[in-house]
Amino acid sequence: MSSPVLLVLGAGPGVGLAVARKFAQHGYKVALAARNPSEETSKAADLVIKTDFSDPSAVVSTFEKVKGVLGIPSVVVYNAYSSHRSEGDPFSVSVADFHTDLAVNATSAFATAKEAVKGFEYLPKDSSKTFIFTGNILNVRQRVSLTSLGAGKSATAHVVANAAATYLDKGFKFYYADERTPDGGPVNNDVDGPAHAEFFYNLARDPKQGTWLATFVKDKGYVDFTAVDRSAPIFV
Ligand SMILES: NC(=O)c1ccc[n+]([C@@H]2O[C@H](COP(=O)([O-])OP(=O)(O)OC[C@H]3O[C@@H](n4cnc5c(N)ncnc54)[C@H](OP(=O)(O)O)[C@@H]3O)[C@@H](O)[C@H]2O)c1
Repeated sequence: MSSPVLLVLGAGPGVGLAVARKFAQHGYKVALAARNPSEETSKAADLVIKTDFSDPSAVVSTFEKVKGVLGIPSVVVYNAYSSHRSEGDPFSVSVADFHTDLAVNATSAFATAKEAVKGFEYLPKDSSKTFIFTGNILNVRQRVSLTSLGAGKSATAHVVANAAATYLDKGFKFYYADERTPDGGPVNNDVDGPAHAEFFYNLARDPKQGTWLATFVKDKGYVDFTAVDRSAPIFV
């Protein structure tokens, strides 16, 4: 049997590198895509694609390259993000910058999930068919300075929830993964690559769809923060 394929779109020194190494250890062929892949990132991959997801059409060509060289991706991680900050006023971001952020955080993520599904249809019954979007807390909490980033993350959370429900019977799994602190807060700049890798690998190997809103804590795995989120102040 040929090796399963992992594709990470938006792979850098954090989540992408750790996820690539984890899946490679478990026999996956790895394709990584970024605008300027570093030497370290490239060394962790069987295929490196230099591309820019601010143009959503880059997604289709990325999948074509991966299919041609390594085969159909069985685990697809969308990790690219774009954030123009708006300190004190949500409308201090230009329309052009908001548009770019939405393209990277939502439209290209939508295009990626769509391409992933097309491929999943052709994979053997017993292979993992998993799409994971690296999210954050902004789909359930607000921060004025991150209005543009939060709009994109929220949009993709909505898409992921609908995809998880739609493809449940086919065994195609969809997750909005959100690393939290043990008390349910955002990890902000302390994003942990290896913790994401461990969690993502467990999501990929589980044959069943878990909760699409995959909030997790390092060294613990999935933690349901729904009650915490309901009672917490809306602004973080
Ligand atoms: N849970 C939380 O609280 C929390 C906190 C912070 C971040 N996060 C999430 O974690 C993820 C990133 O973390 P990370 O540590 O992996 O960051 P990272 O190491 O910087 O990886 C992200 C990679 O995406 C690539 N990228 C960005 N824009 C792109 C574009 N337009 N086209 C193609 N590639 C692009 C960048 O590479 P190039 O520059 O070479 O393109 C970058 O290396 C994001 O989704 C972010 O929202 C979550």
